[in-house]
Amino acid sequence: MPAIVLLGAQWGDEGKGKATDLLGSSVDYVVKYNGGNNAGHTIVIGDEKYALHLLPSGILTPGCTPVIGNGVVIDLAVLFTEIDDLEARGVDTSRLLVSASAHLIGQHHRVIDKVAERFLGDAKLGTTGRGIGPTYADKMSRVGVRVQDLFDEKILRQKVEGALDIKNSLLVKVYNRRAITVDEVVEEFLSYAERLRPMVADTSLVLGQALDAGKTVLLEGGQATLLDVDHGTYPFVTSSNPTAGGACTGSGIPPTRIDRVIAVVKAYATRVGSGPFPTELHDADGEKLRTDGAEFGTTTGRPRRCGWYDAPVARYAARVNGVTDFVLTKLDVLTGWERIPVCVAYEVDGVRHDEMPMTQTDFHHAVPVYEHLDGWDEDITGARTLADLPKTAQAYVQALEDMSGAPISAIGVGPGRDQTVEIRSLLG
Ligand code: GDP
Ligand code: IMO
Ligand code: MG
Repeated sequence: MPAIVLLGAQWGDEGKGKATDLLGSSVDYVVKYNGGNNAGHTIVIGDEKYALHLLPSGILTPGCTPVIGNGVVIDLAVLFTEIDDLEARGVDTSRLLVSASAHLIGQHHRVIDKVAERFLGDAKLGTTGRGIGPTYADKMSRVGVRVQDLFDEKILRQKVEGALDIKNSLLVKVYNRRAITVDEVVEEFLSYAERLRPMVADTSLVLGQALDAGKTVLLEGGQATLLDVDHGTYPFVTSSNPTAGGACTGSGIPPTRIDRVIAVVKAYATRVGSGPFPTELHDADGEKLRTDGAEFGTTTGRPRRCGWYDAPVARYAARVNGVTDFVLTKLDVLTGWERIPVCVAYEVDGVRHDEMPMTQTDFHHAVPVYEHLDGWDEDITGARTLADLPKTAQAYVQALEDMSGAPISAIGVGPGRDQTVEIRSLLG
């Protein structure tokens, strides 16, 4: 089996962690290809609950090799805290591989992320404040520091000097902050170097050889399609490419080796941080979705904005990612609604749009056109086959599939590993 991509179809927090964990036992490598510790994946295994940020969700599967790809940005303190916490809970993390070309998040990135947001005031993006954007900005400006630089102190110092040069002027003169010293950044990085060394690998080579040997590689995206810096709701996006193309650049695996793209999509919609969200609910209905779905961020604890399923968004995700399968999650959260609105198109200044509007301004003005589907009252958390679901829930799933541009191959009916209705195999 060649490589499989698994990514988010909406604005993140669709349940990618659970879906990856579900497939984990059948795959040999799970690769995180973008983002960093802005991600938050909650995985429930029996009575145990794990919150992962930087580590690929496959780390919880015995025998699976987790890989942090070149497209990821790494906060070393977070990496080792996460490893230590998992080890303390009996999870073996010894197989972890880290790309020598992944970029490092330093103190200067974390500080600039936070002060830039404060500076923007009401226009802020609502970032996670983890230094993600400034680290990717340095990567693109070619003043980033990579994992491989940790092993040559002279080079490391030169690179940190280069990175701090303009940033310190900005911090002191524009943001009225203290300058960050080269020593403090270099010392922080070096304090982790020897512990990291055995994990560092040419991960593109390792994965290419694994695929040649017939191994299965799962490429796991952080964030989601509408948070993609190219294809998302720019500028209210993250600074990487969570979409399927990013899986190639962020791992070093070519498109010709990928034959399946699984998109995780919630049975309704949520978003954290600022930016357009046409189906957002500002009333008691939104509050009910937030409460029933426990929609609070895994990373920052912020309440998630909640709204109805948006079919044009799902269709867009199907198109830009080449989705072969949807995993529909959190269907159980919709139990108890008499009628469930689903957005089938938008109206912008009186004009109907069946697809995502071309411009950001139009998307900001998009008013959802709703169809109302019948709900159900039965508890569906024990359903394991389609036939176990009430007829109206089956019809809801079918309607979503018909509107969304790819088959729904599995349905989440609870946070637990086993709380899944499998319609067709996601592998093979
Ligand atoms: P990710 O960032 O895409 O991995 O998603 P998060 O972990 O941030 O958020 C998804 C939340 O929904 C987590 O708390 C999961 O445990 C939970 N979850 C995942 N699938 C289901 C499901 O089908 N039903 C319910 N009720 N919860 C789910
Ligand atoms: P997972 O992987 C939801 C959002 C932030 C903010 C924007 C930019 O758990 O789905 P950043 O810190 O990345 O520069 O913030 O992106 N964001 C997420 N929202 N889930 C995530 O990850 C997110 N990662 C970033 O809230 O709006
Ligand atoms: Mg999340």
